[in-house]
Amino acid sequence: MLDWSETKPSSLAASTDSGEADATGLGEIERGGARVSVDDKRMINARADVNQLLPLKYRWAWEKYLAGCNNHWMPTEVSMQADIALWKSKDGLTEDERRMLKRNLGFFAASESLVANNIVLAIYRHLTNPECRQYLLRQAFEEAIHTHTFQYIVESLALDEGELFNMYREVPSITDKAAWALKYTQNLDDPDFKTGTPEADQAFMRDLVAFYVIFEGMWFYTGFAQILSLGRRNKMVGIAEQYQYILRDESIHLNFGIDVINQIKIENPDLWTPEFQDEIRGMILEAAELEAAYGRDTMPRGFLGLNAALCEQYMHFIANRRCAQLGLKPVFADVENPFPWMSEAMDLKKEKNFFETRVIEYQSGGALSWD
Ligand SMILES: [Fe+2]
Ligand SMILES: [Fe+2]
Repeated sequence: MLDWSETKPSSLAASTDSGEADATGLGEIERGGARVSVDDKRMINARADVNQLLPLKYRWAWEKYLAGCNNHWMPTEVSMQADIALWKSKDGLTEDERRMLKRNLGFFAASESLVANNIVLAIYRHLTNPECRQYLLRQAFEEAIHTHTFQYIVESLALDEGELFNMYREVPSITDKAAWALKYTQNLDDPDFKTGTPEADQAFMRDLVAFYVIFEGMWFYTGFAQILSLGRRNKMVGIAEQYQYILRDESIHLNFGIDVINQIKIENPDLWTPEFQDEIRGMILEAAELEAAYGRDTMPRGFLGLNAALCEQYMHFIANRRCAQLGLKPVFADVENPFPWMSEAMDLKKEKNFFETRVIEYQSGGALSWD
């Protein structure tokens, strides 16, 4: 007969030796433990069993998982023939365009791995909600597909793989961005790090901001604008099409990150102090400055429809938009979006004829309106 006096409190998950709820889901199983109730579920520091997806609490996380699955694509389905011909031709691309393209590819090639490693090795462990973890697993696979894209581009164009994949260590404006983001992951890298104190919970939120809001939500966006601007002029249309798919994925990653941060705020209002809000705004401001330096480095002279000044303006526009999404005051004076075509680029159905390349439509759920 079951000895009820030994049963742990009803909502406790599998527990560690110290009696704390197990954030990993890999601790001792609590035999006959009470079933999870929605009210026990939390974004961080949950006491509910993380191995039970149902009942769902955060439908927005589940819906993003479904949207990611609906958007499935593979880089190898995009023809690279036109790109190969243009890349090999003597005067199809200017020197400025070639420099921008290579540095852009170099930035993304390593960044996709940095983002993936941050999800798997830092975020996943501390986000104690099964529906969010379900999305993280999907996102991790999408980051693998994005890294595959850069392998496929390197192979197709016969680029120097060592040069491209080492740019994050060899080109200072790219290194500066990667190093800036990595310091937030390194805080979480200590095997003894765990959430549960205000300091640790804020460190975790800083990492979410650095990767979801800044890396994926700001820096990637100027990167997309650079390549899609070439595509609009019918140059490197295969890569431009791949970037459209990546952009569609990344817009969901970004919006997932924003929802996660905002939900943590709702559940832990004490973390979101005026000082912490100022700190986050400071991070966004610094990130915009790093991006401006990258813009000058990748486009010292600029070319048709695109230059470093326009990219900087775009970054200011995006930075303010991200602040608004997090409920923060803007960091820059109001500016106009210099690339209004970027939101259309996400709507693949509209752009399909424009790019005149083969598009496989996995999507069955309609175009996404997120930016
Ligand atoms: Fe990605
Ligand atoms: Fe991503």
